[in-house]
Amino acid sequence: MLKIASDELMKTSQTKGSKSAYIPHKAAAEFQPTFDWSEVEALNLFNERLFTFVVDQVYFNDCISGMKNLPSESIDMIIADPPFGLNFGGMEPLYNRDSNFVAEGYKDIQIENYMDFTDKWISELPRLLKDDAGVWIFSGWTNLVDILNALRDNNLTLINHIIWKYQFGVFTKRKFVTSHYHVLFAVKNEKNYFFNKVEHYPEDVWTFKREYERGTRKNATKLPLEVVLRCIDFGSKPGDLVLDPFMGNGTTAVAAKGSFRHFLGFEINPELHDIIKHSKEKTPLGEFYIPYGEKPDDLVRKARKKFNK
Ligand SMILES: C[S@@+](CC[C@H](N)C(=O)[O-])C[C@H]1O[C@@H](n2cnc3c(N)ncnc32)[C@H](O)[C@@H]1O
Repeated sequence: MLKIASDELMKTSQTKGSKSAYIPHKAAAEFQPTFDWSEVEALNLFNERLFTFVVDQVYFNDCISGMKNLPSESIDMIIADPPFGLNFGGMEPLYNRDSNFVAEGYKDIQIENYMDFTDKWISELPRLLKDDAGVWIFSGWTNLVDILNALRDNNLTLINHIIWKYQFGVFTKRKFVTSHYHVLFAVKNEKNYFFNKVEHYPEDVWTFKREYERGTRKNATKLPLEVVLRCIDFGSKPGDLVLDPFMGNGTTAVAAKGSFRHFLGFEINPELHDIIKHSKEKTPLGEFYIPYGEKPDDLVRKARKKFNK
């Protein structure tokens, strides 16, 4: 495992007035991820991790009661994409989907109960998180305030408020078209949280396109796999345990298994059982894992070309 001390990282970004002159793109050319593991190291970390409870499992029940049964300080990372609170039935033609391929039984929360529901599930998190763990929560803008308030009330510190530019495929006549999501990265201990800087200049505005899997049956709110993989890459290590309280189609389970991470999840809609099972089973362990140093982002690639590295 490669670890670069933070002062080492800072050295690469010399500015005016410091001893060595600033050379444009040099820091990018020299960039190394904070932590990195070969595929064999990642597999070993996955296999060596021992648990006193069952993992790599999705439970089909309410996450609030389900989380109460998990041991304290047992979770390395949480990815949560809660129901929107828009009385969304999951079958809306508005979203341009063929409802024959949309699984029934999407469970939304009535808007008047959203604040209470949000506080209930978020208040379960601090007990479950390890000291260096982080929470990544997806939210639209309409109920964002409830999530932000619940994070604050439960002593979780917001580290990043990411805007994910996302085309919902809606059309509006008397207002701007909503084309973004919020991804909130919050931690239990702001002095000791895990963050693997796997890119030289990771910005807090992300662009991911909608995934079209024509002819595949799913719940209508599936996150693109890439966006969940990105959270996992920055927020966890191989062998870690990732919890998703709102598993939906099982995107987090697939992303975790494909990245040599363990997972645990809850989903209240039993209609999604076969969809999750199928997605998990068709994903080989470590399928998406590439050591971070071997997949430099565009900025680093261009800079390395410039410096012939
Ligand atoms: C926005 S979707 C999650 C989609 C998921 N991220 C994916 O990529 O497929 C929210 C999910 O939470 C589930 N849900 C709602 N209330 C729940 C609860 N109390 N416990 C567990 N799951 C719940 C819904 O049935 C729905 O599948």
